[in-house]
Amino acid sequence: MEEQVYDRFSFIKIPVDDFLVDQFSADSFCPEEARKEIEKRYAEILEITDKFNRQSVSYQLNKKEVLHSWLKYKEGFSANLVNLLLDEMGIKPGDWVMDPFMGSGTTALVCQMRGINSIGYDVLPISSISIKTKAAIQRYDIDEIRALIKEVEALRVPHDYSGCTPYITITRDAYPEKNEKFLHYIAAWRDKSGYSEDVKELLTLCIINSLERCSYTAKAGQYLGWDCRSKKVIKANRIRTEKGQKLLPAKQVRQVILDSKETILEELHHVLADLETIQNNKNGNQSAEIEFIPDSVLYKLPEMEENFLTGVITSPPYCNRYDYTRTYALELVYLGLGEQEVKDMRQSLLSCTVESHSKIDELKRYYENIGQKARFDYIYSTIKANTAFEEILFALEKRKKNGDLNNSGVIRMVEGYFTELAFIYAELYRVCKSGAMVAFVNDNVRYGGEVIPVDFLSSSFAEQFGFKVPKIYTLKQQKGNSSQQMAKYGRVALRKSITIWMKE
Ligand SMILES: C[S@@+](CC[C@H](N)C(=O)[O-])C[C@H]1O[C@@H](n2cnc3c(N)ncnc32)[C@H](O)[C@@H]1O
Repeated sequence: MEEQVYDRFSFIKIPVDDFLVDQFSADSFCPEEARKEIEKRYAEILEITDKFNRQSVSYQLNKKEVLHSWLKYKEGFSANLVNLLLDEMGIKPGDWVMDPFMGSGTTALVCQMRGINSIGYDVLPISSISIKTKAAIQRYDIDEIRALIKEVEALRVPHDYSGCTPYITITRDAYPEKNEKFLHYIAAWRDKSGYSEDVKELLTLCIINSLERCSYTAKAGQYLGWDCRSKKVIKANRIRTEKGQKLLPAKQVRQVILDSKETILEELHHVLADLETIQNNKNGNQSAEIEFIPDSVLYKLPEMEENFLTGVITSPPYCNRYDYTRTYALELVYLGLGEQEVKDMRQSLLSCTVESHSKIDELKRYYENIGQKARFDYIYSTIKANTAFEEILFALEKRKKNGDLNNSGVIRMVEGYFTELAFIYAELYRVCKSGAMVAFVNDNVRYGGEVIPVDFLSSSFAEQFGFKVPKIYTLKQQKGNSSQQMAKYGRVALRKSITIWMKE
C-alpha cells in the first residue's frame, strides 16, 4: 500500500500494512480466502487516525468530565469521541440519534447538551439509573441535595442493627462488616425519607458508584477479582491448606478498603459541585429528548418506525468473553437482582460470553409474533450468505477438533454475537433516514489462532443490508495479543476501529 502515516511524537513512519492481516489462520491451518477478500476490499478505505485514540474510545477521558464522571463505567467511550462523531456526521439540533447499547448514556447525554434528541436501549439497571439521573441535571434542587448531604453525614447505624446488604453466591462477603451494614441501612433510610424521587435516585447512583471501592473486589477483565483479606479467599485458602494445595496469591485489590459512608459522601459532593457548575452555566439544552428503553435492542428495535434516525453512535459489547453480569454483580445485586435474575440477565445480553445460549429460535418466534416472519427470513438468509462469516465458523470448528480452543463455548459465542449484531445492522438500516450515518466502535479478536476482523466483517454485513461503507477509522494503538495466543501463534494486527456506514 502507498499510504503512510507519521507518528506525531516520534516521527516514525507507520506503514498501513502494519494494520492489515496477511495471515488470518495461523500456520494457514484453515481456509482464509473470504477473510482476505474483505481485508482487500476495505483496506482501501481504512484510515489510521490520530483523531481518536485509546483514551477517547474508552472511559478514560470521561474520568474528569463534568457529569460523565458520575458513574465509573469502564466499558464506556468518551464524550469527546461522541462530539467528534456528531460534528463529522453533521448532526444538528432537533435530529434523532440512536445508541442501541447505551451503557452509561454517553451518546445520549452529549446529544442532550447539544439539543439533539436521542433514543436507545440497555438491559442493565445500572444503565437506567445512570441515564435517568444524568438526564435530570436541570431539575435538581441544589438546596435539597445540600440537605441530603447533611443528613447522610449525621447517619449512624444503631449498634444492634441486624440488617445486611444482600448477596448472591458470586458476591458473598464482598464487604467488610461495617460497610455491609451501612449499605443496607442507608438504602432503608433513603426509601423512608421524604426526598424527591430525583434526589433519591441520585443518592442511589452515588452508592452504586462507591460499592467497588468499599468492597474486597475489583473489576478485573472478565470477572471480579478478590482481595486476599476477604472471607472468601481466607476460607478458600484454609481448605487448600487442609488439602495440601498451593495457596491463592496474597493479592490486595486496593491498599485500603474504603469506608462506605465516607465514599458515598465524597460522591455526593462531587455530583453537587458538577450540578452547581452546570446549572449556573446553563450548560445543557433541555429541549432535547432522551428516550431510554430498558430492554433488549434485539426485541424492541424491530418495532420502531422506519426512516426515522439521522445518526447512530454506539459501541456494542465486544466479542471478548467479557461478562457484564459478573463484573457488575455488586451493583446489580444492590439494585435488587437475585441469583436467578442475574443469570437471566446474562442470557439477555448480546452473546459475548462462552455461557451465552443461542437466541435464534427466540428471535424467530418474536419476528413471527410481530407479523414479520418474512423480514426474519430475509435477514437470517442474508447472514447465512456471508462467506467470511461462514469461513470463520468453519475455521473455529476445525480448531476445536484440533484441540486449539480452550473453551468450545467460543464457537457458540462468535456465531451468536455476529448473528445478533447483524440483525441489529439490518434493523438500523430500516430505521435510518436517507443520508443517515452510523458509527460502531469495536475491537478485532483472535481465537485458537483464527483472526476475526470484527470491523471488516461487520461492514460486510452492513453492505449486504444496503449501507455504503465510506470509511473505517482505525486507532494507531492496536489491541494487544493475549500472551497465550502470542506464544502459540505469534503476533498479528488486532485493530481497534470505528466503522462508518451511510444510508444513501
Ligand atoms: C460497550 S457498552 C456501551 C457503553 C456506552 N457507549 C457508554 O459510553 O457508556 C455496551 C452496552 O451494551 C449493553 N447491552 C448488551 N446487550 C444488550 C442488548 N441485547 N440490548 C441492549 N443493550 C445491551 C450492555 O449492558 C452494555 O451496557
